[in-house]
Amino acid sequence: MKRFEDLSPSLRSIMTPGPVEVDPRVLRAMSYPVLGQFDPQFTGIMNETMSMLRELFATRNTWAYPVDGTSRSGIEAVMVSLIAPGDRVLIPIYGRFGHLLHEIADRCGAEVHVLERPWGSVFAPGEIQAEIRRIKPQIVAMVHGETSTGRLQPLEGIGAACREVDALLIVDAVATLGGVPVDTDRLLLDAVIGGTQKCLSVPAGMAPITYNDRAEQKLLSRKRVERGLKTDAGLADDVKPVRSNYFDLGMLQDYWSPLRLNHHTEMTSMLYALREGIRLVLEEGLEARFARHRLHESALVQGLTAMGLTLYGDPTCKMPMVTCVNVPEGVDGEIVRKLLLEGFGVEIASSFGPLKGLIWRIGTMGYSCRADNVLRLLGALEAALLRQALRVPAGQAVQAALDVYEQSILFQS
Ligand SMILES: Cc1ncc(COP(=O)(O)O)c(C=O)c1O
Repeated sequence: MKRFEDLSPSLRSIMTPGPVEVDPRVLRAMSYPVLGQFDPQFTGIMNETMSMLRELFATRNTWAYPVDGTSRSGIEAVMVSLIAPGDRVLIPIYGRFGHLLHEIADRCGAEVHVLERPWGSVFAPGEIQAEIRRIKPQIVAMVHGETSTGRLQPLEGIGAACREVDALLIVDAVATLGGVPVDTDRLLLDAVIGGTQKCLSVPAGMAPITYNDRAEQKLLSRKRVERGLKTDAGLADDVKPVRSNYFDLGMLQDYWSPLRLNHHTEMTSMLYALREGIRLVLEEGLEARFARHRLHESALVQGLTAMGLTLYGDPTCKMPMVTCVNVPEGVDGEIVRKLLLEGFGVEIASSFGPLKGLIWRIGTMGYSCRADNVLRLLGALEAALLRQALRVPAGQAVQAALDVYEQSILFQS
């Protein structure tokens, strides 16, 4: 009989833009006993997680809960629930994940209008506002932190422009939630999707979302309750029901509400993980967490620069938790990544589409965002580049990063 060994995955420094290392407290929470999904103990945990999510999303929205599935499931649930076939949807695109929103809106049967910026840059909010006034869409969907290029899109004033034309604003904050402010209410964001496996340092498998009353009104107008669950036989089926059953937020919110109307079986262990992940964020404090991300970004950038490497993209809109580095001429980026992983246990990412092979993407997110990781990566990258016969000034990268840490009050405290 074939024997299968015990799993023993290696301990890695995961410095990609997600997934990242998981806090041991989160891993421990995942091993707690499973509860039934209608057990009052479990529904208590659900309610608690909802209030924790409200803090994280900086919102007073009633609805803040996770969709089961990776971040893309949250995006798809929001879009399929809010976009009726034929709706005009405006999508500003400045990287791969903007294209994903386009792809999903297309599948929802929307009339899609796109506005594109070259990868590596972002929009001035005024450009998007002008397009909103011109197109008068029902929906605007855009990415806050574009991990494919490491750019952060300012959102100021876009929500207000959406209100002028009665459009709903959907924001993919998958990579930014827990790493930089995601000010849902202040910025008038109607629906926001976060990610677990990035700045929250929880494994992939859930997508926290929040949406306000305006969004709820739209999705309820398209809601259809499953025939087998209906108690009111008189309820008419809507003309344009949400095309997905699993992702129909109208039905999902019935399960997250005191109604507790059965939908799918809740992912108990993932919810424990998410709750512990958010508890860690709130214990650290949002502002302190944002400052920690900026500190390690600074050490990393100083180190890379001291090594003579150049950063990709417009520096004025760089995401603090993703640093994109131009692969130097004559260096094989994939051989370097392989040596980092196999020789040093450090994982960094390559990129997609037009940037494939041209840049490395280094993540400093959540639990992975630590000095030991930054220093290990800088030392390892220097060694890997020297092996590729690139003359880098040996030793200076780590020293430059150490200088940043030594000067930081955050680091000394
Ligand atoms: C900005 C952004 N949006 C969406 C996604 C999709 O997330 P997932 O792979 O968890 O479905 C990612 C994942 O890398 C992302 O970085």
